[in-house]
Amino acid sequence: MTTRILFVCLGNICRSPTAEGVFRALAPEVETDSCGTGDWHVGEPPYGEMQRAALARGYDLSDLRARQLAPEDFTRFDLLVAMDASNIENIEARRPAGNTTPLRLFTDYAPEAGMDHVPDPYYTRDFDGALDLIEKAARGLKASL
Ligand code: 4NP
Repeated sequence: MTTRILFVCLGNICRSPTAEGVFRALAPEVETDSCGTGDWHVGEPPYGEMQRAALARGYDLSDLRARQLAPEDFTRFDLLVAMDASNIENIEARRPAGNTTPLRLFTDYAPEAGMDHVPDPYYTRDFDGALDLIEKAARGLKASL
């Protein structure tokens, strides 16, 4: 059974910490974490507008801090969940030789949404739209376990 899930995006200040916050509320029995493939925001809390939009729906992200994907993550987690195809490329480029930990797109768990990625609200400014999609995918992911 999948018990440790790592959500991955680019900066780890918008999409993946929100996925972590939503999923841990939905499935507290699952060990969750998030990280970014980039290192620009390491040590920072989630982006202010993202935190405010999440808190308005009851998700407090204030304890989270950005970190970068590390080689150990491939063995510490049972499932890696990426927000878009470029995350997948970046993750695969860092996968240690011989590692086979499953890597999936988060939107695969919300086929009803008809999306092939979670648009980055850091750029789109659509924080509520990102939350809508993340909530759907979180429900689908939980149902898949
Ligand atoms: P995220 O969004 O990958 O959803 O955390 C980003 C936030 C900041 C940057 C990139 C993506 N940045 O390059 O600063």
